[in-house]
Amino acid sequence: MAQSKLQPVNDRLETFVEKQKSLRERAAAEKQATAIAHPNIAFIKYWGNEDDILRLPANPSLSMNLGSLHTLTTVSYDDNLPGDRLVINQEPVTDAALARVTAHLDLVRRQARLNAAARVESTSNFPIGSGIASSAAAFAALSVAAAAAAGLWLDEAALSRLARRGSGSASRSVPGGYCQWVTGNDKTSIATSVAPPEHWDLRDIIVIASQEHKSIGSSDGHRLAKTASLQAARVAGAEARLQACREALLARNLAKMGPVIEEDAVMMHAVMMSSRPPLYYWNTVTMDVIQATQHWRAKGLPVYFTIDAGPNVHLICEAKYAATVESEARKIPGVEDVLISGPGGPARLVDSASTVFGKSIGSGYNDR
Ligand code: DP6
Repeated sequence: MAQSKLQPVNDRLETFVEKQKSLRERAAAEKQATAIAHPNIAFIKYWGNEDDILRLPANPSLSMNLGSLHTLTTVSYDDNLPGDRLVINQEPVTDAALARVTAHLDLVRRQARLNAAARVESTSNFPIGSGIASSAAAFAALSVAAAAAAGLWLDEAALSRLARRGSGSASRSVPGGYCQWVTGNDKTSIATSVAPPEHWDLRDIIVIASQEHKSIGSSDGHRLAKTASLQAARVAGAEARLQACREALLARNLAKMGPVIEEDAVMMHAVMMSSRPPLYYWNTVTMDVIQATQHWRAKGLPVYFTIDAGPNVHLICEAKYAATVESEARKIPGVEDVLISGPGGPARLVDSASTVFGKSIGSGYNDR
């Protein structure tokens, strides 16, 4: 019985692994690769580093990849290019974002003993820089594509570690489904999947309270965390919250998980708001959505909130309640838009940007 249930999963995984292998071989030969990755929403947040350069987090974190949102990135190395080129959503980029990408490519080039500059083209199907962790999907896709095009054969752990160096939360966008990122040293601080996307059909209903690009990015925010006296208390309790959240996740128990994720998010924002200088990511719509969530719950709608480094509110519920939550959220004055996503697969190589763009991406294990 267990055998017959497991068989299709094993077959799918085998096809996935085979497909990735052949794409890696082609990428190494052509010095060009395209990868797709999903952003993730953290249920237990990463905020503050032990080491800002290596992005070794102060506490462990736990998240869900967001399958309907994605970043698609193509990396091509070219000996004739005078320097790295970066195009994001069809716009050439030359500022700090290019420097961050070059620093990341340098890690790959050093490991692959490669000197060529690279052309990097990236497209996302969601608003970047507004509290949906766009850097997570961006650096996960960049890591997978840059390593493959450089001919490096990195396993999931090595890719998660590499992605972490670009953006901490990107480590959690490398494995599929629900992922945990552990503290540790440069070698051991990686993310692994604790459950596949199929484990639990949760929805993240992302209530956009502002599309504006945030003024203080996460990297600067992480550096400020240690100026808040509340950070020590938040970090001290993170492991216990993570265990409680993980247990509830594995048991598919949202009534147990919900209060933990709300507490964890509010603790992170309390740290942000009491940093020196203070960081206020919320706006008035953020607060209205929080209050509405409490009101809906009191009336019997099982939904819980979490908030990243921005004003947008992520409402977590089971799939069967998503349509109701969405229509209620759209009624709140000031809400600019609502996006919905279920759990997503791992960061992975794909045939090419043009064959994927505009299509439904699925869990990632079904790419042919
Ligand atoms: C609030 O991973 O964006 O979303 O490592 O500097 O790129 P950098 O920071 P980033 O931080 C994300 C913080 C968060 C919480 C989380 O995703 O765990």
